[in-house]
Amino acid sequence: MQSYISPARFRVSVYNGKKQNCREKNQFQNPDFEYFQPVSILKTDSVTKSLKLFEEQGFFRLEGFIPSPLLRKLQDYFDELATGCDKYHQMAVNRVNGVDYITNIDNPCARENPVCLELLGLPAMLELAESICGPDFFPIQDFAVIKMLGDTLPVLWHLDMLHQRRGKCFTIGIYLDDADSGDGCLKLVPGSHLKNEDICTLKEYPCMEAPVKAGDVLVHDMMVAHASDPMTKNEKRRVIYFEFLSAAHVAAENLYTGELVNRRCWLVETAAAYYRQLHPEAESYIFKRPAAIPEVQGLTVEQTIAVIYDSPVRAHPSSYCFDMHKPGEKFQ
Ligand SMILES: [Fe+2]
Repeated sequence: MQSYISPARFRVSVYNGKKQNCREKNQFQNPDFEYFQPVSILKTDSVTKSLKLFEEQGFFRLEGFIPSPLLRKLQDYFDELATGCDKYHQMAVNRVNGVDYITNIDNPCARENPVCLELLGLPAMLELAESICGPDFFPIQDFAVIKMLGDTLPVLWHLDMLHQRRGKCFTIGIYLDDADSGDGCLKLVPGSHLKNEDICTLKEYPCMEAPVKAGDVLVHDMMVAHASDPMTKNEKRRVIYFEFLSAAHVAAENLYTGELVNRRCWLVETAAAYYRQLHPEAESYIFKRPAAIPEVQGLTVEQTIAVIYDSPVRAHPSSYCFDMHKPGEKFQ
């Protein structure tokens, strides 16, 4: 049975509205330390090879992509989120034997703490998106998926977004924790993005595990079949996801409205500007398709983000396989 549902909401069972012992602090402030990630990292041979892998296999991993200080900030923030310390409370939890496990966090770039906006504005991140999608790229969705030891909910086999392949789009998973082989790391079917078959058929092809370390990123075509199992050893696996596509792709397939594309392009512009504000000495990324949205002229970063996220994104649904049998076999 194939079904279509939002990836960011699939593992939702109940919403967590708790708030406990939150520290008061000014979140939009200068960082305690400086760190720079040269854009030139993406000109290396390894990335050239990775982009070829993306075409043929549909996915690749970049090791140590996130600078260590930023990784620590992200880890600290997600530790804080686990205590319910966020005024937006848009977290989903799964209850197992009376214990609540956080499973999903919506819109991490729109949170009280803007560290995920800084992550999006990382020059290497934006250059990577431009390398794959073209200069008119933008993230249609941002969300986080969290696995905790004891949470028994798997991520079933799915495709992130079905489309006609008139443009390139991808999902990037930014890992805040190690995801080891045989312990909840992503499994993918190489080449499945080119097969034009339904997800329940694709999941029967040989798959590969993609173990990663904290700070690595895993990039995959949005039509590569993938899944992951619950963890049995590590305590947690927290992954921030951005889904990138291009304005030209959206126009060619009439996927989203021009107004939504403009808003999400402005998110790129805002993230790049915020990163420049935090790291004025760093090499910066200049977005080549700034969008005009008059409502944000003259607003602060925080106010701009509030406008961008004022209307929910109704992203195209993912295609999941709920079959527990192989194609051709009959249910008993
Ligand atoms: Fe996915």
